[in-house]
Amino acid sequence: MAGNALNNFNPYLHGLYAPVREEVSADDLSVVGEIPRDLHGAYFRNGPNPASPPKGMHHWFDGDGMIHGVWFENGKARYRNRYVGTQDLRANGAADMPGIFEPSKDAPGRKVNYRDTANTDLVYHNGKLLALWYISGQPVAVDAQTLETIRTETFGGKLPRNISAHSKVDQVTGELVFFDYALYEPKMWTGNVSRDGVLTQFQEIDLPGPRLPHDMGLTENYVILHDLPVIFSEAAIRNRMWQIHVADQPTRFGVVPRKGGAPKWFEFPTCYIYHVINAWEEGDEVVMAACKMVPNGLKPDPKYGPYAAMADVLALRAQPFRWRMNMKTGEGCEEQIDDAVSEFPVVNTDMTGRKTKFSYHVLFDNCIEQRFTGLLKYDLETGASERHEFPQGVYGSEPAFAPQEGSAAEDDGWLVTFTADKYGNSEAHVIDARNFAAPPVARVKLPQRVPAGFHGVWAQGA
Ligand SMILES: [Fe+2]
Repeated sequence: MAGNALNNFNPYLHGLYAPVREEVSADDLSVVGEIPRDLHGAYFRNGPNPASPPKGMHHWFDGDGMIHGVWFENGKARYRNRYVGTQDLRANGAADMPGIFEPSKDAPGRKVNYRDTANTDLVYHNGKLLALWYISGQPVAVDAQTLETIRTETFGGKLPRNISAHSKVDQVTGELVFFDYALYEPKMWTGNVSRDGVLTQFQEIDLPGPRLPHDMGLTENYVILHDLPVIFSEAAIRNRMWQIHVADQPTRFGVVPRKGGAPKWFEFPTCYIYHVINAWEEGDEVVMAACKMVPNGLKPDPKYGPYAAMADVLALRAQPFRWRMNMKTGEGCEEQIDDAVSEFPVVNTDMTGRKTKFSYHVLFDNCIEQRFTGLLKYDLETGASERHEFPQGVYGSEPAFAPQEGSAAEDDGWLVTFTADKYGNSEAHVIDARNFAAPPVARVKLPQRVPAGFHGVWAQGA
């Protein structure tokens, strides 16, 4: 089958997901409502945006990374989008390097065998953005004002390996705490980069086998690594899958001292987790809240042809849970916070690693394609929630929390997200976190559509 015909079946190349071709800059955008004068900073969102139509089988994770940003200052907003200048994009342009659905190729000197796209996640560290990849790739440093790529970040040549998406910044210490994993080696790695960009710690952790984690937990003193029952499989690729679920394998969390040292492992009933809500310490306990995957209740839809299995796996459905791990007794327990289905959780990132009461998630419709119909604000202590629905036919992105400067209240601030509708109109919505169900206080009109994508981040003062 020719490449173009295959692409017709791929839901992640069309509609809300269709890539945009232009790199656009626009100032003084028109606004419905009023941008709060105190809102000063930028919301950035990463996502896949194939630079050319894929020639072979194309996974949603394969698209070249593109960052969309909206900056707010003095009640005004500007927008810009740029590709992430990964080594692979710069070296090969739009040339069709193999994606994760294609058989891997021996590539001496490379740490992954696939097109490394940095398309998944963003952290704001040391005054720059770092674009990070799901399959743990080379971090790419990006200017937080222009979105121009600065370099492949190696921290002065000291970074020994890769950095995975969902590595985290501790806003109290300014440190970047990262993890790395490998498709073929039974190991994970963790490390620490200081506020000013110096690698200060790196260590290797042994596992029973290679693993495919997606996130980690961070507390004041620990990293929480995920040993989950999902692994990469070359064999599965032949069945148009990319990963396999090993049903009889437990879920384990490895609590590793940030300063270095052996992990303490805690075993729980088998489950998979994409995204951590937050983690913190309470006395002797390390606590992690996360969205635990539940069956999506859907069947692979033959209309997606060879992409039916991929679309089914990507139809995320999850519920919020909390795991408590006692570092003194070695005992652990799992508690369900709520039974509503949500994902892509975020918190006030000033409090990453410290106990948070509130989290903000996206809501889905029941479609196999991931469409975010609204946001949900949780009180994590009680499980109570409030909903913010987008208008009918309007779909959002993972939001980021923009704190009110100088306020000590955790939820004093705004949620910022991009939206898109089927006509190709996009906006940036600013939602008052304390008046959550109300319409946005500001809807900023964007000059082009922002395709649905992955993760967002707020950069205060950027
Ligand atoms: Fe993610």
